[in-house]
Amino acid sequence: MSTVIDTVEVRDVRAEDAAELAELLNAIIAQGGTTALEVPFTPERLADSYLTGPAVLCCFVALNPASQEILGFQTLGRYPDLPDDVGDIGTFARIGNTQSGVGSALFRATRERALALGLTAINATIRADNAGGLAFYSRQGFRDHSVAKAVPLSDGTPVDRISKRYSLMTGRNG
Ligand SMILES: CC(C)(COP(=O)(O)OP(=O)(O)OC[C@H]1O[C@@H](n2cnc3c(N)ncnc32)[C@H](O)[C@@H]1OP(=O)(O)O)[C@@H](O)C(=O)NCCC(=O)NCCS
Repeated sequence: MSTVIDTVEVRDVRAEDAAELAELLNAIIAQGGTTALEVPFTPERLADSYLTGPAVLCCFVALNPASQEILGFQTLGRYPDLPDDVGDIGTFARIGNTQSGVGSALFRATRERALALGLTAINATIRADNAGGLAFYSRQGFRDHSVAKAVPLSDGTPVDRISKRYSLMTGRNG
């Protein structure tokens, strides 16, 4: 099932999206300076890590309703360092299509699914030098949670990693 939110269509990821999403994500990795991911993905590794693999709780894609071009994706998964009821999120909007509501539309879908899955919170870990990523998650309602100091990039450059949390408990009984 898919829903049209504003001018963006959002639906669950499909196995056949993997090649287009690998291309979208690899362009962001090649540009550098935002995501903590540094190694390009094959469609197979992307599918296993973030789309349909065993640790994935949900993954949504945003599409242009007219052309069906994928404009971005958002994954929520289990991460070994997090409690079972806290999902770990990653969001990627196609280069050239940022700040046009793609990430926000995706988060409306992910938030609903996380609630349905019974999660209590969503974690986002962002490079401290990724001002856009930090602004995006703050705008969705994420609050600062913790900082991992000076985690090296693959070239050794130390960059702090900021973890932000979104609580799903508001308004719940118990
Ligand atoms: C971060 C990212 C996912 C945001 O997606 P997006 O589709 O551009 O976000 P939206 O258009 O829905 O923006 C939502 C809000 O965040 C704000 N925001 C998003 N990117 C921003 C930026 N670079 N600088 C300042 N504010 C930003 C928007 O202004 C908007 O605010 P508003 O609600 O007041 O209008 C996207 O820029 C991206 O893919 N970046 C590269 C990968 C990355 O860093 N991912 C995050 C770490 S996993």
